[in-house]
Amino acid sequence: MSVLLLYIFLSTAALNLPAMAAGEDEFVFSGFKGANITVDGVATVIRNGLVDLTSGQETLKGHAFYPAPLRFREESPNGNGTAVKSFSVSFVFAIYPNYRPSQGMAFFIAKSTDFSSALPTQWFGVFNSASQGNSSNHIFAVELDTVNNRDLHDIDANHVGINVNSVVSNKSTTAGFYDDETGSFNALNLTSGERLQLWVDYEREATRINVTMSPLGMAKPARPLVSAIYDLSTVITEDAFLGFGSSAGRDGSRHYILGWSFSSSGGPAPAIDIRKLPPLPRLGPKPRSKALEIVLPLATATSVLAVGVTIFLLVRRHRRYAELREDWEVEFGPHRFSYKDLYHATEGFKNKNLLGEGGFGKVYKGVLPVSNLEVAVKKVSHESRQGMKEFIAEVVSIGRLRHRYLVQLLGYCRREHELILVYEYMPNGSLDKYLHCGEDKPTLDWTQRFGIINGIACGLWYLHEKWEKVVIHRDIKASNVLLDGEMNGRLGDFGLARLYDHGTDLQTTHVVGTMGYLAPELLRSGKASPLTDVFAFGTFLLEVACGQRPIKQDSKDEHIMLVDWVREHCHNGTLLQTVDTRLHGNYDKDKASMVLKLGLLCLHPLPSARPSMKQVMEYLDGETALPEMAPTHINNVNMMQIRGSPDLTTSIGTFSGLSGGR
Ligand SMILES: Nc1ncnc2c1ncn2[C@@H]1O[C@H](COP(=O)(O)OP(=O)(O)OP(=O)(O)O)[C@@H](O)[C@H]1O
Ligand SMILES: *[C@@H]1O[C@H](CO)[C@@H](O)[C@H](O)[C@H]1NC(C)=O
Ligand SMILES: *[C@@H]1O[C@H](CO)[C@@H](O)[C@H](O)[C@H]1NC(C)=O
Ligand SMILES: *[C@@H]1O[C@H](CO)[C@@H](O)[C@H](O)[C@H]1NC(C)=O
Ligand SMILES: *[C@@H]1O[C@H](CO)[C@@H](O)[C@H](O)[C@H]1NC(C)=O
Ligand SMILES: *[C@@H]1O[C@H](CO)[C@@H](O)[C@H](O)[C@H]1NC(C)=O
Ligand SMILES: *[C@@H]1O[C@H](CO)[C@@H](O)[C@H](O)[C@H]1NC(C)=O
Repeated sequence: MSVLLLYIFLSTAALNLPAMAAGEDEFVFSGFKGANITVDGVATVIRNGLVDLTSGQETLKGHAFYPAPLRFREESPNGNGTAVKSFSVSFVFAIYPNYRPSQGMAFFIAKSTDFSSALPTQWFGVFNSASQGNSSNHIFAVELDTVNNRDLHDIDANHVGINVNSVVSNKSTTAGFYDDETGSFNALNLTSGERLQLWVDYEREATRINVTMSPLGMAKPARPLVSAIYDLSTVITEDAFLGFGSSAGRDGSRHYILGWSFSSSGGPAPAIDIRKLPPLPRLGPKPRSKALEIVLPLATATSVLAVGVTIFLLVRRHRRYAELREDWEVEFGPHRFSYKDLYHATEGFKNKNLLGEGGFGKVYKGVLPVSNLEVAVKKVSHESRQGMKEFIAEVVSIGRLRHRYLVQLLGYCRREHELILVYEYMPNGSLDKYLHCGEDKPTLDWTQRFGIINGIACGLWYLHEKWEKVVIHRDIKASNVLLDGEMNGRLGDFGLARLYDHGTDLQTTHVVGTMGYLAPELLRSGKASPLTDVFAFGTFLLEVACGQRPIKQDSKDEHIMLVDWVREHCHNGTLLQTVDTRLHGNYDKDKASMVLKLGLLCLHPLPSARPSMKQVMEYLDGETALPEMAPTHINNVNMMQIRGSPDLTTSIGTFSGLSGGR
């Protein structure tokens, strides 16, 4: 029971029922929640207690009234008839502008609540053009005008006016207030969306109308904003209605009333409790639903992000797979690989697929898509385009070259600053790793070594003499000999040196050849020939047989040429002492001796004294016996002393002249 009473008490307290004095000459609404307020047209009372006169709608008027008429007149003191009592009105309002300035709004005291004849789009939904100034209108109004209409003698687009039966103000002033202390005028913006308070006071005796304004929260300024002497007894009827009117025009602006109080008992209008005023909606266009407010920006951000990511991925994809392609390459099309395929084959050139790194660039293992063919992909960084066409032509022609002892070049791909060559994959890697592994146990026995020597000789012979044109390898060395699955030696890397030939002279060329493999005439003339290849092959023979690098360290830790050391032993009749000690004597002594001597022969300083590859093949086969070497040239060999020029051990020029017709 008591709970029910409490409930009734609380729910009553929550409603903003006007505190009405006896005789209904006073009321106060601090917000309109649950209040008895009559609205018409587009006006609404929002659930939170806000009166919205225009609802953001276009071309429609709206009004809010105190529901019952109030008695405004009393007996005249002089006894002849009645006069309008002194009264006081106060209200709190806010105007939200939209894309066009609002039309403003008005407070009025009128003879009826019927404004059907008022203009729908302007004049505050209160006046009409036909009855302008007609005293039978019985309308008193205070306009909050936000349009500067010259026809109506408006002073500006932000003024407060006192209107009697007419939309043309009897008196008006720019909105604002006079400071109590300084007396200076402070303008207020009616359409700022800020909450403003307005007072209308009428004095019966003086027939004075005072209109005062201030920002919400400020005490009522002493000096009124507009003041006029007008006997409202000629205007306000016996029973009259109090209310607000607005017509939004086509602007979608909002006119809110937050609180309202009235008194006709002689005192000021009761104070409106500011703390109880309803909150205003967020200033902006049409208020959206909460869900949309959250979902829309989220969706927008997501789609912007998605578009951004897509573009980023496309650009990255484009960059990642970008290739360089020129018109002249059309004819080489079939030998061209797409960068995308190579990228995927090597898993994006990952380090785990790195096979090794040579003087030209890195080599990666890859598995071609579709065919599942294992390949070695060599990335050669190359800045200049000079000679590129010739080189590609050569790559392609070499690509047609197939031989059991040559590493097949499958094709190429070009990118900016990069040339990519695709070779057959050699599962056992390069020969130098086996020769110089440093272990005591030989990793290659004599038979394997002799087989590799034979194979490389055969491959080189093919390049020099058996193909449609002479191909000079230029870079024969143990690291360019690769071993296939059956440990057969295969010659790789041919022709690459040519890429660095063009437009370069001896002084400016880069690391290409390896010391010990370079024939003396190559250093002098810079001209490569099949016989410079034979010279390098000679070094290769010694390297394989001795298991030593072309430049070895002697017992005193000094660098000496392998060839000088072998010659020395040959001269002293101790040639077989040079054979790789890791073989522990398990080798064919005749063949080893022959290989070493053939090596020395190939390393003859005079090119004309060197054998051709065809002859080399014959010597290796044992068909022809090696010529006895004259002791004179054995003593005459120290032409490639390296002690005085240590730089040469790592760097030496590349030399020109690859292939001539036969
Ligand atoms: N076709 C291939 N199959 C398997 N491994 C390869 C292949 N080609 C090269 N390699 C590996 O990559 C390494 C580097 O090769 P690359 O030919 O670039 O260098 P290099 O011969 O040592 O020096 P240079 O570039 O001066 O000739 C080799 O030592 C070898 O281990
Ligand atoms: C509102 O006030 C009017 C006039 O006083 C009255 O007729 C009506 O019943 C009231 N309505 C409510 C819901 O109180
Ligand atoms: C009322 O009396 C005043 C002065 O006593 C006079 O001026 C006025 O005209 C009278 N009005 C009417 C309506 O009789
Ligand atoms: C004023 O309005 C009344 C009623 O509508 C009308 O009869 C009268 O003619 C109007 N007077 C003028 C001057 O327009
Ligand atoms: C305002 O009203 C007074 C009193 O009726 C009148 O004398 C004056 O001309 C009016 N002013 C305007 C601008 O209408
Ligand atoms: C009033 O404020 C509104 C909203 O901030 C602005 O668009 C308008 O220009 C202002 N008007 C004046 C007269 O300052
Ligand atoms: C109206 O304002 C004047 C000063 O301009 C003041 O003397 C008078 O008392 C005011 N009347 C009311 C009812 O506030």
